[in-house]
Amino acid sequence: MIDQFKRSIHYLRLSVTDLCNLKCQYCMPEGGVDKKAHQDILRIEDYLRLVEEMTSLGVDKVRLTGGEPLVRKGIVDLVEGIAKLEGIKDLAITTNGVLLKKYAEELKNAGLTRVNVSIDTLDPDKYREITRGGNIEDVLGGIEEARRVGLLPIKLNVVLINGFNTDEVEDFIRLADEDMDVRFIELMPIGQVANWSKDKFISNEKLLEKHRDWFVMEDGEQYGPAKYYQKKDGKGRVGFINPISNHFCSTCNRVRMTADGKLKLCLHTNEEYDLKPLLEEDSDTIRKTLQEYIAKKPERHHMNDQEFQPIVRDMNRIGG
Ligand code: 5AD
Ligand code: SF4
Repeated sequence: MIDQFKRSIHYLRLSVTDLCNLKCQYCMPEGGVDKKAHQDILRIEDYLRLVEEMTSLGVDKVRLTGGEPLVRKGIVDLVEGIAKLEGIKDLAITTNGVLLKKYAEELKNAGLTRVNVSIDTLDPDKYREITRGGNIEDVLGGIEEARRVGLLPIKLNVVLINGFNTDEVEDFIRLADEDMDVRFIELMPIGQVANWSKDKFISNEKLLEKHRDWFVMEDGEQYGPAKYYQKKDGKGRVGFINPISNHFCSTCNRVRMTADGKLKLCLHTNEEYDLKPLLEEDSDTIRKTLQEYIAKKPERHHMNDQEFQPIVRDMNRIGG
């Protein structure tokens, strides 16, 4: 699928639930998720139907997100179903890792290729604080199990929050090795974070300045949103994702689908297209409609503009 700015769209991020077993402060409202918002969630077979039509249009890479995808009933069946679709080259999951120990082997056997694990601190107390109650041991055990069963390479996603985890940057860099990349993500003013004070935001540029001597400085693989650097000891890579200061819209290859079946063409707009009615239609109609929608993908985001309005959906209802 090619959009009007000649970008090839072949990457689908599919959120399979709004629910989560954690309540990270930047992601979820303190009171948790409104059940009413949750009632229109699609069935596993509905996702499979829509993903199948998308693969026939050229989608070859799928990432399952949430909320927390591993709390979704039927997640292993969904992985198995998508892995079997013709044309799928890469099927990954973004998880908080809490249930990974339990599911890693099943997921691997079902055809999952890789996992990204979100972990913003290595300190058990700080972890409990930022996730509002999580136990870091669960996550560390999950990462270990993902390694054991070969869901590789693992990518650790670390959202940088100034004053909260900026002192742990070097500890995280140390963790990167042959089987695990560490990626620092700039905090985005979305949902819960829209009203956070400016001093919580820190640009990757600033961080890199401080830790330059940790890296071999020639740029690594520069495809997609992460900019990678090799560690000096040669053991592992560290990525920097700068959604704000360095936007990558001109090479954006992705669309998102929410758990309630809305197609989102850009993370940073409120616009969405309801795919649920399409489930009543035949394949030809579904494909034609999908193509029409995708042609409308906006050229770029406007987060840096003066009049930018932060989007209203919380991150748990988009999937990152
Ligand atoms: N800014 C940056 N990253 C975020 N995530 C969730 N909310 C935000 C935000 N406001 C991250 C999660 C996870 C991924 C899916 O998105 O930590 O790694
Ligand atoms: Fe759950 Fe991930 Fe949101 Fe944390 S960031 S509350 S783990 S969905």
